[in-house]
Amino acid sequence: EETGKGEYEHFMRKEIDAQPEALRGTLAGRVDGDDVDLDTLPDGTFEEIDHVHLVACGTSYHAALAASRQLVRAGLPATAYRASEYHDLQPVDESTLVVAVTQSGETADTLSALRRAHEADARTVAVTNVVGSTVSREADDTLYIRAGPEIGVAATKTFTSQVVALSLLTHRVASDSAAATVREDAAEFLAALEALPEAVEDLLATTEARSVSDAHIGRDAHFFIGRDFEYPVALEGALKFKEITYEHAEGFASGELKHGPLALVTPETTLYALLTGDRGEETLKNAEEAKARGVNVVAVAPEGMAVGGVADEVLRVPDTHPDVVGLLANVQLQLVSYYTAHGLGRSIDKPRNLAKSVTVE
Ligand code: G6P
Repeated sequence: EETGKGEYEHFMRKEIDAQPEALRGTLAGRVDGDDVDLDTLPDGTFEEIDHVHLVACGTSYHAALAASRQLVRAGLPATAYRASEYHDLQPVDESTLVVAVTQSGETADTLSALRRAHEADARTVAVTNVVGSTVSREADDTLYIRAGPEIGVAATKTFTSQVVALSLLTHRVASDSAAATVREDAAEFLAALEALPEAVEDLLATTEARSVSDAHIGRDAHFFIGRDFEYPVALEGALKFKEITYEHAEGFASGELKHGPLALVTPETTLYALLTGDRGEETLKNAEEAKARGVNVVAVAPEGMAVGGVADEVLRVPDTHPDVVGLLANVQLQLVSYYTAHGLGRSIDKPRNLAKSVTVE
């Protein structure tokens, strides 16, 4: 039954396992070779657009941040804003596309950013999971992520589906806008998205996340680092970890470690280094610098990458396109957070003080 826990102890674990199915829902009928077909957003929808703002909160903000990098690569100035920090100061007009990313479609700060965008005559698109939600009624257009209902307060499958849906939206905007260009490797990139459900299945069949969690449970703090597309994944890894374990967790851009965070590392802390993607080797060097200060390193690394001298443990990730592989790394981090929270006896589906949807500003 779709809305029950079935054989699972927690909805969160069920929803982690549901990611292949959620992704199939997100992708169904939307990719056609090197092109994207979005029924609610036909060809030409974004001809007048020359820059993009994404507004979102929490996990959805991390998906928005990942999407902003893809849009920038397509040649479009794009910025992800935390919805509560989106002010009238931002230059917004009819050439601005404002994308409201919200799983529930009801987050007050995101809705209020969307309303501000409308007042300034921006073109707006909602990216949401909930059919008929407030955001879908208020935005000019809606792209549903079609991930199925998510019950656990901590978002898992909807993050993965949001990033994929936003990748498809990026393709549409890049095709339409005179200011942008579609990525040269569109066919390979889209094929990697289509293959993602199976890659997640392969990853979910591995068991290392549980032993990694056991090895690092109870440390003073847990840090997550990544660059480029892996930076939003580092932020998301840390958010998930703090939400459900109540332990101190922080995500950093790998290159920023030496500008402050290194002061926090001790032999009682753990560093999760995201080594997937085009810039993984650089992050490996940053992990090495932290290791020299005594931190415990967990590498989240592609098959075949040599990490022996640096990593105390390795979480392997199946090989795929460098701009997609971060989503697989994220699934490993979801599992580590889950097992750690489980080991600590936390209220995983309903963490203290948190709500699934925050409807007040
Ligand atoms: C709350 C939830 C988070 C979620 C955020 C944004 O803080 O606990 O899991 O990421 O709201 O929610 P939304 O529905 O807008 O994506």
